[in-house]
Amino acid sequence: MIILFLTMTLNTILVSGSSLSDKVDQNPPNMYKNPEEKAKIYCSHSIATWNRILWYKQSDRQLQYLGNMVAGSALPESGLDEDVTIGGSADEGRNCTLTINSVSVSSSAVYFCAAGQTQGTPAYFGKGTKLTVLETGQPVTPPTVKIFPPSAKECRNKKDDIRKKTLVCVASGFYPDHVSVSWEKNGNGVKDGVATDSAAKRTPDKTYRITSRLRVPADDYNKLGNTFKCIVSFYNGTENVLRHASIKSIQGKSEGGMTKEKYLKHLQNAKLSYGVLIVKSCIYGAFIGFLVWKLQSSARKYS
Ligand SMILES: *[C@@H]1O[C@H](CO)[C@@H](O)[C@H](O)[C@H]1NC(C)=O
Ligand SMILES: *[C@@H]1O[C@H](CO)[C@@H](O)[C@H](O)[C@H]1NC(C)=O
Repeated sequence: MIILFLTMTLNTILVSGSSLSDKVDQNPPNMYKNPEEKAKIYCSHSIATWNRILWYKQSDRQLQYLGNMVAGSALPESGLDEDVTIGGSADEGRNCTLTINSVSVSSSAVYFCAAGQTQGTPAYFGKGTKLTVLETGQPVTPPTVKIFPPSAKECRNKKDDIRKKTLVCVASGFYPDHVSVSWEKNGNGVKDGVATDSAAKRTPDKTYRITSRLRVPADDYNKLGNTFKCIVSFYNGTENVLRHASIKSIQGKSEGGMTKEKYLKHLQNAKLSYGVLIVKSCIYGAFIGFLVWKLQSSARKYS
């Protein structure tokens, strides 16, 4: 898939997702910094005829142009709210660097380089660098992952819908929001039927939460031994760490969301509360009966 970004800056067509984007190497993909630290991003390409690298900052769906380098000369954009330096070289096999000299919370964004030839020709995006400037007092925390079985409601299938089940995976309690979610069935990657929130959401406790859903045919879900796994990759400041949860079919019922013991315990509790309810109703009934009897007898006394 090719995505075109048309920008007015420098009369350049920016291309992402093309095979030529593979010729652009941007590092690192993730970065955490404390306020006032220096952040350095590297970009190189492997095309002999290219000698130009452009830099962009993407935040809140806005793409802001930061400057460019042609061969060995840098031209940073003037009047930026960010103090940036562009260095190195834009020639083949060399590193061009973008340095943010003193980061602040508003520096948190995804930075992109794009490499190409001269003005008026396409420039191809690198994969981006997601920078988060850590908030003071917010420790880097990996997610807790839970998987929930299909809701009982969904089990009553609708008429014209082939029976499907939705598994829900929730990753929560993490900071910051450098995560990606993937699914596996019996150890193999699954892409079909997956819907993941486009971005993690901030919760009142200042950590993040993201949800992903996997829709599978009911037969598939109920098949004995089938295991569905939700894997969350979290960047912890040095590397990507994995957290996961899974659910396994056992004779038409799946365990993981609710185990058999838990189910029995629930049943026991349900029976108990039902019993209490019956006893309560009996006492209430007796009380009402007593009242009626009392009223009737006092009415008899009056008449
Ligand atoms: C660019 O710099 C990075 C980080 O120092 C290094 O890993 C990479 O090999 C360099 N690339 C080139 C083409 O010199
Ligand atoms: C990141 O995870 C690795 C592997 O679990 C661990 O060795 C390292 O200490 C972690 N880094 C941080 C900053 O938590």
